[in-house]
Amino acid sequence: MTRGTFISFEGIDGAGKSTHIERVAALFRQAGRAVVLTREPGGTPLSEKLRELVLHEPMDALTEALLMFAARREHLVQVIEPALERGDVVLCDRFTDATFAYQGGGRGFDWQVLTQLERIVQSQAHAQADSALRQPDLTVWFDLDPQIAAERLASARVPDKFESQPADFFAAVRAGYAKRQAEMPTRFARINAAQTREAVGADVALVVTPWLSRSTA
Ligand code: TYD
Repeated sequence: MTRGTFISFEGIDGAGKSTHIERVAALFRQAGRAVVLTREPGGTPLSEKLRELVLHEPMDALTEALLMFAARREHLVQVIEPALERGDVVLCDRFTDATFAYQGGGRGFDWQVLTQLERIVQSQAHAQADSALRQPDLTVWFDLDPQIAAERLASARVPDKFESQPADFFAAVRAGYAKRQAEMPTRFARINAAQTREAVGADVALVVTPWLSRSTA
């Protein structure tokens, strides 16, 4: 049985999730929990190599989806499952919802194929029930108008393959996240990321607080 807590953080590029993930890590550490801070695509040496490829090389849409899930499989097996087994808190900067939002929503790739890949990749090794897919206990979705996100990104670093997409791509990514939330409403917490950083931080603290002392059995 899993004892840890698995939280993912999602949103379009420029939504500003990174600083808040650090703060959530600090909250859990203060509560005496061991924290594994990680990201997707990435999180293992092999998955980080796949990240380099998938974020910078042009490729076929199915290839892109397969590489996202290949990186995820390694990450689950090598990092996430062992951490949850130990009872740690796993804070993951993006997880499968990003594949549905970016490859499904943004790229328009087949949602049902993604659902099949999710089922293959996230089946739990010792699960009895078919429905027992590994999913985050909580997903904090930083929701932001793509126009505002674009303004925030304009002054930032050199864009990668996704960050350089036009605004309508991000509108479709946002719609992908909304669709995913509608499919799995219980684990999603939508945060209005258009607020000040302090207000966003307060909202994030509110949704993670119930998890600070909780282990999932
Ligand atoms: P991001 O997480 O924003 O990292 P950084 O802060 O270094 O830019 O970048 C990862 C990019 O990969 C982001 O544009 C979303 C994209 N992505 C997908 O398209 N599909 C996925 O399944 C995942 C996990 C990420």
